[in-house]
Amino acid sequence: VSDALAWLTAASAEREHDGLHRELAPRHGGPDPMLDVASNDYLGLARHPHVVSAAAAASRVYGAGATGSRLVSGSTDLHARLEDALALFTGAESALVFSSGYLANVGAVTTLSGPGTLIISDSSSHASLIDACRLSRARVVVLSVHELGALDAVLAGRDEERALVVTDAVTSVDGQSAPLLELHQIARRRGAALLVDEAHGLGVMREGAGACPPEIRGEPDLVRTVTLSKSLGSQGGSVVGSAAVRNHLIDTARTFIFDTALSPPAAAAALAALQLIAPSRVASVRRAARQLAALLDLEPTDGAIVRVPVGDHHRAVAMRDTCAALGVRVGCFRPPAVHADEACLRLTVRADLTDVEIRRAARVVRTAQRVHA
Ligand SMILES: Cc1ncc(COP(=O)(O)O)c(C=O)c1O
Repeated sequence: VSDALAWLTAASAEREHDGLHRELAPRHGGPDPMLDVASNDYLGLARHPHVVSAAAAASRVYGAGATGSRLVSGSTDLHARLEDALALFTGAESALVFSSGYLANVGAVTTLSGPGTLIISDSSSHASLIDACRLSRARVVVLSVHELGALDAVLAGRDEERALVVTDAVTSVDGQSAPLLELHQIARRRGAALLVDEAHGLGVMREGAGACPPEIRGEPDLVRTVTLSKSLGSQGGSVVGSAAVRNHLIDTARTFIFDTALSPPAAAAALAALQLIAPSRVASVRRAARQLAALLDLEPTDGAIVRVPVGDHHRAVAMRDTCAALGVRVGCFRPPAVHADEACLRLTVRADLTDVEIRRAARVVRTAQRVHA
């Protein structure tokens, strides 16, 4: 009998040959021997004593796991408090917590669309939004949300009654901001809803509440998703929006109904982190990002992400490895995270990076650029 999965060996060899093989590099506990400019812990809260002790205390009080889905045994008063705090902080009427940002995106997009709906998705949307669009069974048009005229024309010319515009607030690869006010105006005029993924906006943009301008945050046709795993240093995700959206998700979102609830320690950590978001921390992240971009002669960046264009993904991997050998952990994006020949190093800053660390990161990246010119 032949092994039905024997083809995996050939597929793996092909990925290896194409430079698309991936390896895990486990971190050990304790102080990080590397200078980290690859993580999404933008506010440096993942190890903050208040956040860590909130998680430990919650695990003693509620247990390590949630024990069931939200609609069965998994909802605790911690989840309710976290949802209230997230809604208040982001200026929305309500929030609903999922066990990851990925699942929040899939839940929101699939339940707010469906067959007979048009979705316009930004060409730089995160993989979770792309997968959500695929699962939605809606007609999906992909375009850049910066092409406002084209977006307006597609919305105006649609046959579908319902439409949803989907975008990251700040794109995960290059940290570029979407024109959210204009998008909301166009969507409203054309009877479409707007769904904005604030994964890289929360804790970083404006005063920390995300990139959405305050004047539209409470609008009923705006839905935002956030992750608890980046600025909040925890794990999990949430949809924030109107109470009507929340009710709809509770009744219909498969990634909410058929998934074990966010664990109590993660909920408590996110809740503690929310209380620690302060304007000074937010300003520090953006200052660090601008400083790093300037040292690398790159355009100023909107949020915490500094993209170093490389092109060829073999070269990007070699540069990443050189940075690691010199003690600096950088992100490396290659297909399928980016298009072919658009590989890049992705540097992410944290509020607690010092000037000396930022200069060292820039020096090491420049060395890698020279070595692999
Ligand atoms: C833009 C964006 N949306 C959603 C996610 C998914 O969030 P989570 O890691 O909480 O699943 C991520 C990152 O992982 C992201 O970068």
